Amino acid sequence: MKGEIIRLLKENIGQFISGEKISQKLGVSRTAVWKYINTLKKEGYQLESLPRKGYRLISSPDLLTYEEVEAYLNTDFIGRRIYYYDSLESTNIKARDIALEEEEGTVIIAEEQTGGKGRLGRNWISPKGKGIWMSIILKPNLDPSKVAKITLIGAAAVNQGLKDLGIKSQIKWPNDVVIGHKKVCGILTEMSCELNMINYVIMGMGINVNLDEGDFPKELAHKATSLKEVVGKEIDRKKLLANILNHFEKLYIPFKEREDISKTIEICRGESALLGQEVRIIRGGIERTGKALDIDDEGQLIVEYGNGEREAIFSGEVSIRGMEGYI
Ligand code: BTN
Repeated sequence: MKGEIIRLLKENIGQFISGEKISQKLGVSRTAVWKYINTLKKEGYQLESLPRKGYRLISSPDLLTYEEVEAYLNTDFIGRRIYYYDSLESTNIKARDIALEEEEGTVIIAEEQTGGKGRLGRNWISPKGKGIWMSIILKPNLDPSKVAKITLIGAAAVNQGLKDLGIKSQIKWPNDVVIGHKKVCGILTEMSCELNMINYVIMGMGINVNLDEGDFPKELAHKATSLKEVVGKEIDRKKLLANILNHFEKLYIPFKEREDISKTIEICRGESALLGQEVRIIRGGIERTGKALDIDDEGQLIVEYGNGEREAIFSGEVSIRGMEGYI
Protein backbone atom coordinates (compact mmCIF):
# COMPACT_ATOMS: atom_id res chain seq x y z
CA MET A 1 0.00 0.00 0.00
CA LYS A 2 2.80 2.38 0.94
CA GLY A 3 4.33 1.70 -2.47
CA GLU A 4 1.07 2.53 -4.23
CA ILE A 5 0.77 5.83 -2.38
CA ILE A 6 4.34 6.71 -3.38
CA ARG A 7 3.49 5.85 -6.99
CA LEU A 8 0.40 8.08 -6.93
CA LEU A 9 2.33 10.97 -5.40
CA LYS A 10 5.09 10.53 -7.97
CA GLU A 11 2.62 10.49 -10.86
CA ASN A 12 1.38 13.85 -9.59
CA ILE A 13 4.73 15.24 -8.57
CA GLY A 14 4.59 18.97 -7.85
CA GLN A 15 0.77 18.91 -7.72
CA PHE A 16 -1.58 18.35 -4.83
CA ILE A 17 -3.59 15.19 -4.65
CA SER A 18 -6.37 15.07 -2.09
CA GLY A 19 -6.55 12.50 0.68
CA GLU A 20 -10.00 11.62 -0.57
CA LYS A 21 -8.77 10.89 -4.08
CA ILE A 22 -5.95 8.70 -2.73
CA SER A 23 -8.35 6.82 -0.47
CA GLN A 24 -10.81 6.27 -3.36
CA LYS A 25 -8.14 5.17 -5.83
CA LEU A 26 -6.56 2.74 -3.41
CA GLY A 27 -9.69 1.64 -1.58
CA VAL A 28 -8.48 2.53 1.92
CA SER A 29 -9.80 4.93 4.55
CA ARG A 30 -8.60 8.52 4.76
CA THR A 31 -7.20 7.81 8.21
CA ALA A 32 -5.10 5.01 6.72
CA VAL A 33 -3.84 7.41 4.02
CA TRP A 34 -2.93 9.94 6.69
CA LYS A 35 -1.00 7.27 8.63
CA TYR A 36 0.92 6.19 5.53
CA ILE A 37 1.75 9.82 4.73
CA ASN A 38 3.20 10.23 8.22
CA THR A 39 5.31 7.10 7.79
CA LEU A 40 6.61 8.44 4.47
CA LYS A 41 7.57 11.73 6.10
CA LYS A 42 9.51 9.80 8.75
CA GLU A 43 11.30 7.90 5.98
CA GLY A 44 12.52 11.14 4.45
CA TYR A 45 9.88 11.95 1.82
CA GLN A 46 9.37 15.70 1.76
CA LEU A 47 5.63 16.22 1.55
CA GLU A 48 3.53 19.31 1.82
CA SER A 49 0.07 18.81 3.35
CA LEU A 50 -2.59 21.49 3.03
CA PRO A 51 -6.16 21.36 4.33
CA ARG A 52 -8.69 20.91 1.50
CA LYS A 53 -5.87 20.49 -1.06
CA GLY A 54 -4.24 17.30 0.13
CA TYR A 55 -0.66 16.18 -0.30
CA ARG A 56 2.15 17.20 -2.61
CA LEU A 57 5.44 15.35 -3.06
CA ILE A 58 8.38 17.72 -3.05
CA SER A 59 11.29 15.28 -2.97
CA SER A 60 12.11 11.64 -2.35
CA PRO A 61 14.87 10.33 -0.10
CA ASP A 62 18.02 8.61 -1.34
CA LEU A 63 16.83 5.10 -0.55
CA LEU A 64 17.28 1.98 -2.66
CA THR A 65 13.71 0.74 -2.29
CA TYR A 66 11.77 -0.74 -5.21
CA GLU A 67 9.51 2.34 -5.29
CA GLU A 68 12.53 4.58 -5.75
CA VAL A 69 14.35 2.45 -8.32
CA GLU A 70 11.35 1.27 -10.35
CA ALA A 71 11.21 4.31 -12.62
CA TYR A 72 14.69 3.56 -13.99
CA LEU A 73 14.29 -0.20 -14.36
CA ASN A 74 13.60 -1.80 -17.72
CA THR A 75 13.97 -5.43 -16.74
CA ASP A 76 11.57 -8.34 -16.95
CA PHE A 77 12.54 -10.20 -13.80
CA ILE A 78 15.84 -8.94 -12.38
CA GLY A 79 15.08 -6.54 -9.52
CA ARG A 80 11.31 -6.79 -9.93
CA ARG A 81 11.16 -7.90 -6.32
CA ILE A 82 13.45 -5.98 -4.00
CA TYR A 83 13.71 -6.80 -0.30
CA TYR A 84 15.01 -3.62 1.26
CA TYR A 85 16.60 -3.38 4.72
CA ASP A 86 17.99 -0.51 6.70
CA SER A 87 20.64 -2.78 8.17
CA LEU A 88 21.65 -6.42 7.73
CA GLU A 89 24.64 -8.49 8.72
CA SER A 90 25.14 -9.41 5.06
CA THR A 91 22.82 -9.35 2.05
CA ASN A 92 24.38 -12.63 0.88
CA ILE A 93 23.42 -14.32 4.15
CA LYS A 94 19.87 -12.96 3.97
CA ALA A 95 19.58 -14.02 0.32
CA ARG A 96 20.76 -17.51 1.19
CA ASP A 97 18.12 -17.78 3.93
CA ILE A 98 15.25 -17.04 1.57
CA ALA A 99 16.62 -18.23 -1.78
CA LEU A 100 14.75 -21.52 -2.02
CA GLU A 101 11.34 -19.85 -1.72
CA GLU A 102 12.10 -16.81 -3.84
CA GLU A 103 11.87 -16.30 -7.58
CA GLU A 104 14.86 -15.81 -9.79
CA GLY A 105 15.87 -12.17 -10.01
CA THR A 106 14.89 -11.26 -6.45
CA VAL A 107 17.28 -8.68 -5.01
CA ILE A 108 18.23 -8.10 -1.38
CA ILE A 109 19.51 -4.64 -0.54
CA ALA A 110 20.70 -3.17 2.73
CA GLU A 111 21.65 0.42 3.44
CA GLU A 112 24.39 -0.93 5.71
CA GLN A 113 25.97 -4.29 6.44
CA THR A 114 27.35 -5.02 9.88
CA GLY A 115 29.21 -8.13 8.71
CA GLY A 116 29.61 -7.67 4.96
CA LYS A 117 31.52 -10.59 3.45
CA GLY A 118 34.36 -10.29 0.97
CA ARG A 119 36.18 -13.05 -0.86
CA LEU A 120 38.68 -15.30 0.89
CA GLY A 121 37.02 -14.73 4.26
CA ARG A 122 37.70 -11.00 4.26
CA ASN A 123 35.18 -8.48 5.49
CA TRP A 124 33.58 -5.83 3.30
CA ILE A 125 33.22 -2.27 4.58
CA SER A 126 29.56 -1.28 4.06
CA PRO A 127 28.74 2.09 5.70
CA LYS A 128 25.14 3.26 5.83
CA GLY A 129 23.59 4.91 2.80
CA LYS A 130 26.89 5.26 0.98
CA GLY A 131 27.10 2.24 -1.24
CA ILE A 132 25.12 -0.34 -3.11
CA TRP A 133 25.25 -3.51 -1.04
CA MET A 134 23.10 -6.08 -2.78
CA SER A 135 22.63 -9.73 -3.61
CA ILE A 136 20.75 -11.14 -6.59
CA ILE A 137 19.12 -14.58 -6.34
CA LEU A 138 19.54 -16.60 -9.54
CA LYS A 139 18.35 -20.06 -10.50
CA PRO A 140 19.89 -21.00 -13.84
CA ASN A 141 19.19 -24.49 -15.08
CA LEU A 142 22.86 -25.20 -15.79
CA ASP A 143 25.69 -27.39 -14.63
CA PRO A 144 27.27 -26.01 -11.41
CA SER A 145 30.65 -25.79 -13.16
CA LYS A 146 29.27 -22.90 -15.26
CA VAL A 147 28.47 -20.65 -12.32
CA ALA A 148 31.81 -18.81 -12.23
CA LYS A 149 30.78 -17.14 -15.48
CA ILE A 150 27.98 -15.34 -13.68
CA THR A 151 30.60 -13.30 -11.83
CA LEU A 152 31.90 -12.09 -15.19
CA ILE A 153 28.38 -11.10 -16.19
CA GLY A 154 28.11 -9.13 -12.95
CA ALA A 155 31.42 -7.35 -13.52
CA ALA A 156 30.46 -6.49 -17.11
CA ALA A 157 27.07 -5.17 -15.92
CA VAL A 158 28.72 -2.88 -13.36
CA ASN A 159 31.22 -1.63 -15.93
CA GLN A 160 28.41 -0.84 -18.39
CA GLY A 161 26.16 0.65 -15.70
CA LEU A 162 28.96 3.04 -14.78
CA LYS A 163 29.56 3.83 -18.43
CA ASP A 164 25.91 4.95 -18.73
CA LEU A 165 26.70 7.55 -16.07
CA GLY A 166 29.82 8.64 -17.95
CA ILE A 167 32.20 6.87 -15.55
CA LYS A 168 35.00 4.85 -17.12
CA SER A 169 36.05 1.75 -15.21
CA GLN A 170 38.01 -1.42 -15.88
CA ILE A 171 37.32 -5.04 -15.06
CA LYS A 172 39.94 -6.87 -13.05
CA TRP A 173 39.13 -10.41 -14.06
CA PRO A 174 37.16 -12.08 -12.63
CA ASN A 175 35.56 -10.35 -9.60
CA ASP A 176 36.47 -6.70 -9.39
CA VAL A 177 35.76 -3.40 -11.07
CA VAL A 178 38.51 -0.83 -10.66
CA ILE A 179 39.12 2.79 -11.53
CA GLY A 180 42.69 4.03 -11.80
CA HIS A 181 44.07 0.91 -10.16
CA LYS A 182 41.74 1.14 -7.16
CA LYS A 183 38.80 -1.11 -6.46
CA VAL A 184 35.28 0.36 -6.60
CA CYS A 185 33.33 -2.88 -6.76
CA GLY A 186 33.78 -6.45 -5.58
CA ILE A 187 31.63 -9.47 -6.39
CA LEU A 188 31.12 -12.51 -4.22
CA THR A 189 29.23 -15.31 -5.95
CA GLU A 190 28.06 -18.20 -3.79
CA MET A 191 25.93 -21.19 -4.67
CA SER A 192 24.01 -24.15 -3.35
CA CYS A 193 24.02 -27.15 -5.65
CA GLU A 194 23.71 -30.91 -6.00
CA LEU A 195 26.20 -32.91 -8.07
CA ASN A 196 24.84 -31.73 -11.40
CA MET A 197 22.11 -29.27 -10.51
CA ILE A 198 22.10 -25.73 -9.16
CA ASN A 199 19.64 -25.01 -6.35
CA TYR A 200 20.44 -21.31 -6.38
CA VAL A 201 23.21 -18.81 -6.93
CA ILE A 202 23.68 -15.68 -4.84
CA MET A 203 25.58 -12.97 -6.61
CA GLY A 204 26.64 -10.37 -4.04
CA MET A 205 27.88 -7.01 -5.27
CA GLY A 206 29.43 -4.27 -3.23
CA ILE A 207 29.81 -0.92 -4.95
CA ASN A 208 31.61 1.92 -3.22
CA VAL A 209 29.42 4.77 -4.40
CA ASN A 210 29.47 7.77 -2.07
CA LEU A 211 32.04 6.72 0.53
CA ASP A 212 34.43 9.37 1.77
CA GLU A 213 38.14 8.86 2.32
CA GLY A 214 37.58 8.41 6.06
CA ASP A 215 35.17 5.53 5.48
CA PHE A 216 38.00 3.25 4.36
CA PRO A 217 40.43 1.80 6.89
CA LYS A 218 44.03 2.98 6.39
CA GLU A 219 45.20 -0.36 5.04
CA LEU A 220 42.72 -0.09 2.14
CA ALA A 221 43.56 3.50 1.23
CA HIS A 222 45.90 2.55 -1.63
CA LYS A 223 43.66 -0.26 -2.88
CA ALA A 224 40.08 1.01 -2.72
CA THR A 225 38.20 4.13 -3.68
CA SER A 226 34.65 5.32 -4.23
CA LEU A 227 32.88 6.78 -7.24
CA LYS A 228 32.40 10.01 -5.30
CA GLU A 229 36.15 10.29 -4.72
CA VAL A 230 36.84 9.63 -8.40
CA VAL A 231 34.20 11.94 -9.87
CA GLY A 232 34.33 14.61 -7.15
CA LYS A 233 30.60 14.62 -6.47
CA GLU A 234 27.83 12.40 -5.12
CA ILE A 235 26.52 9.80 -7.53
CA ASP A 236 22.82 8.92 -7.88
CA ARG A 237 22.67 5.46 -6.33
CA LYS A 238 19.16 4.73 -7.63
CA LYS A 239 20.08 5.31 -11.26
CA LEU A 240 23.30 3.37 -10.92
CA LEU A 241 21.54 0.43 -9.29
CA ALA A 242 18.91 0.32 -12.03
CA ASN A 243 21.55 0.63 -14.78
CA ILE A 244 23.43 -2.33 -13.33
CA LEU A 245 20.32 -4.48 -13.03
CA ASN A 246 19.26 -3.54 -16.57
CA HIS A 247 22.62 -4.53 -18.03
CA PHE A 248 22.82 -7.62 -15.87
CA GLU A 249 19.53 -8.96 -17.21
CA LYS A 250 20.49 -8.25 -20.82
CA LEU A 251 23.73 -10.17 -20.43
CA TYR A 252 22.31 -12.93 -18.22
CA ILE A 253 19.37 -14.00 -20.43
CA PRO A 254 21.47 -15.35 -23.34
CA PHE A 255 23.70 -17.13 -20.82
CA LYS A 256 20.82 -18.76 -19.00
CA GLU A 257 18.95 -19.66 -22.19
CA ARG A 258 21.77 -20.92 -24.40
CA GLU A 259 24.99 -20.55 -22.42
CA ASP A 260 25.94 -17.60 -24.60
CA ILE A 261 28.31 -15.23 -22.81
CA SER A 262 29.87 -13.75 -25.94
CA LYS A 263 28.75 -10.17 -25.21
CA THR A 264 30.01 -10.44 -21.61
CA ILE A 265 33.39 -11.71 -22.82
CA GLU A 266 33.60 -8.91 -25.36
CA ILE A 267 33.07 -6.38 -22.54
CA CYS A 268 35.49 -8.12 -20.15
CA ARG A 269 38.17 -8.18 -22.87
CA GLY A 270 37.61 -4.64 -24.08
CA GLU A 271 37.51 -3.15 -20.58
CA SER A 272 40.12 -5.36 -18.94
CA ALA A 273 42.56 -3.99 -16.39
CA LEU A 274 44.77 -7.08 -16.74
CA LEU A 275 45.32 -7.82 -20.42
CA GLY A 276 48.86 -7.04 -21.52
CA GLN A 277 49.95 -6.70 -17.87
CA GLU A 278 52.36 -8.73 -15.79
CA VAL A 279 50.36 -10.64 -13.20
CA ARG A 280 51.05 -12.85 -10.24
CA ILE A 281 49.01 -16.02 -10.10
CA ILE A 282 48.59 -17.30 -6.57
CA ARG A 283 47.25 -20.81 -6.31
CA GLY A 284 47.36 -22.93 -3.18
CA GLY A 285 50.06 -20.70 -1.69
CA ILE A 286 52.28 -21.04 -4.79
CA GLU A 287 52.98 -17.92 -6.79
CA ARG A 288 53.93 -17.65 -10.47
CA THR A 289 54.51 -14.59 -12.59
CA GLY A 290 53.22 -14.31 -16.10
CA LYS A 291 51.64 -12.03 -18.65
CA ALA A 292 47.87 -11.84 -19.06
CA LEU A 293 47.30 -12.36 -22.79
CA ASP A 294 43.59 -12.80 -23.34
CA ILE A 295 40.23 -13.87 -21.97
CA ASP A 296 39.03 -16.82 -24.02
CA ASP A 297 35.49 -17.53 -25.18
CA GLU A 298 34.84 -19.57 -22.02
CA GLY A 299 35.85 -16.65 -19.84
CA GLN A 300 39.20 -18.12 -18.82
CA LEU A 301 42.25 -15.91 -18.42
CA ILE A 302 45.10 -16.92 -20.74
CA VAL A 303 48.47 -16.36 -19.09
CA GLU A 304 51.93 -16.82 -20.57
CA TYR A 305 54.76 -17.62 -18.18
CA GLY A 306 58.42 -16.65 -18.57
CA ASN A 307 59.32 -20.06 -20.06
CA GLY A 308 56.74 -19.62 -22.83
CA GLU A 309 54.24 -22.01 -21.25
CA ARG A 310 50.62 -20.90 -21.60
CA GLU A 311 47.78 -21.67 -19.26
CA ALA A 312 44.04 -21.04 -19.31
CA ILE A 313 42.99 -20.08 -15.81
CA PHE A 314 39.50 -20.88 -14.68
CA SER A 315 38.08 -18.12 -12.53
CA GLY A 316 37.65 -19.01 -8.92
CA GLU A 317 40.69 -21.23 -8.66
CA VAL A 318 43.33 -18.55 -8.27
CA SER A 319 44.03 -15.13 -6.88
CA ILE A 320 45.44 -12.62 -9.34
CA ARG A 321 47.67 -9.74 -8.33
CA GLY A 322 49.27 -7.16 -10.52
CA MET A 323 52.88 -6.22 -10.11
CA GLU A 324 52.16 -2.70 -8.93
CA GLY A 325 49.52 -1.36 -6.59
CA TYR A 326 46.26 -3.20 -6.40
CA ILE A 327 46.03 -4.35 -10.00
C1 BTN B 1 35.25 -9.02 -2.70
O1 BTN B 1 35.75 -8.28 -3.54
O2 BTN B 1 35.93 -9.49 -1.79
C2 BTN B 1 33.79 -9.32 -2.78
C3 BTN B 1 32.98 -8.32 -2.02
C4 BTN B 1 31.49 -8.55 -2.08
C5 BTN B 1 30.72 -7.60 -1.18
C6 BTN B 1 29.24 -7.69 -1.37
S1 BTN B 1 28.38 -6.42 -0.56
C7 BTN B 1 26.86 -7.20 -0.84
C8 BTN B 1 27.09 -8.70 -0.67
N1 BTN B 1 26.90 -9.07 0.71
C9 BTN B 1 28.05 -9.45 1.28
O3 BTN B 1 28.16 -9.79 2.48
N2 BTN B 1 29.04 -9.40 0.40
C10 BTN B 1 28.58 -8.98 -0.90
